[in-house]
Amino acid sequence: MLIHSCSQLLTLSGGPQRGLDLGQLHIIPNGAVLWRGETIAAVGPTPELRAAYPDEPALDAGGRVVLPGFVDPHTHLVWAGNRAAEFELRLQGRTYLEILAAGGGIISTVRATRQAGLDNLLEQTRRRAAAMFRHGTTTAEAKTGYGLETTSELIQLDALLRLDAEGPLELAPTFLGAHAIAPEFKNDPDAFTALICNEMLPAVRRWWDEHAPQRPLPFVDVFCETGAFSLAQSRRILREAKQLGFPLKIHADEFDNLGGASLAAELGAVSADHLVKTSAEDIKALAHSGTVAVALPCTPFGLGDTHYTPARAILAAGGLLAIATDINPGTAWCESMQFAIALACRYLHLTPAQAIAAATINAAAAIGRAGRIGSIEAGKQADLIILTESDYRHLGYRFGTNLVAAVIKKGKVFNVPS
Ligand code: NIG
Ligand code: FE
Repeated sequence: MLIHSCSQLLTLSGGPQRGLDLGQLHIIPNGAVLWRGETIAAVGPTPELRAAYPDEPALDAGGRVVLPGFVDPHTHLVWAGNRAAEFELRLQGRTYLEILAAGGGIISTVRATRQAGLDNLLEQTRRRAAAMFRHGTTTAEAKTGYGLETTSELIQLDALLRLDAEGPLELAPTFLGAHAIAPEFKNDPDAFTALICNEMLPAVRRWWDEHAPQRPLPFVDVFCETGAFSLAQSRRILREAKQLGFPLKIHADEFDNLGGASLAAELGAVSADHLVKTSAEDIKALAHSGTVAVALPCTPFGLGDTHYTPARAILAAGGLLAIATDINPGTAWCESMQFAIALACRYLHLTPAQAIAAATINAAAAIGRAGRIGSIEAGKQADLIILTESDYRHLGYRFGTNLVAAVIKKGKVFNVPS
């Protein structure tokens, strides 16, 4: 199949974009892309590709923008229920961490998720996955973390593998058993930390070897935060995970600076996420590492907070920056990477080009998949989106509507109803 007459073909070619290099879209005006099966075979100007492949079935982009599908590298996709009541409480003045400490917040979603059976969980999650796909996300990382006990966490992992197999949204699973202190261990977080290390992580490893031996191991993530896991507990969990062969992620500096970003750099984590209260020293540590800094602008927005990730400082220091939605029922129920881009332009002070690179090639790097997705280059997976517009800057500029006209996933075309 050949898609042609793309006003601007944003290829994002050349790999992840570090520091102030962020925002190289590598645009081909009047561009075209040829793919065979699931894989891109050629990229170039429309006249050239049409002449070279005259008999290829053609799809006319009609002078609209084509870019790589968005990669959403931080989501809590799988949960049951909602927290509308908690949203109202926060508007009345209660804080997120107060509600969590009182047994609400994440713990209330844990109760709902433990109760829901696999089918119910799949049904609720499938709707969100479909909305993400319609908004242009072709691959998403997705975390467990609403079970906080081995069996329920494994059900969530199972749900994620099943949804990934169903498609079309492709999922990169993460085990987040360390999302909060389980209610049963409320007064003994060290004992829960020990349980994660001694029971849950080995159980996940065995389960994976049995159910998905052909797939790379999932990421292991920890919520390193006041009221969740301390720096010492986070270190213990991540070290144990690393020993077992898992690639690492961390939630760091969302509300307080505990040093989680530097820990991520030290342990060679694939990404460190949130990074709102991150110090200059942590930024330096990240910038000198291969760890991708993942900013989640929907989260402070969702909390009505005014503090955002110091993205420009991260770029100035030479860090690798990506953005994600963080979709979850507590702080940010947002399926749209387009909305994350719009916020990133305003509150992280990125240009549309920088935000797009952070949502594609760098987001792919944040889940260790930059070799396969995140750009439009021969040999890569044919994951593309067609916008409704002819100027890419409408991404960022506009918000609250869907600017995606069609999604192409592994070479298959899905039209989005307007
Ligand atoms: O990334 N901070 C921890 N986890 C989520 C929120 C999860 C929830 O509130 O259910 C986040 O913001
Ligand atoms: Fe999160």
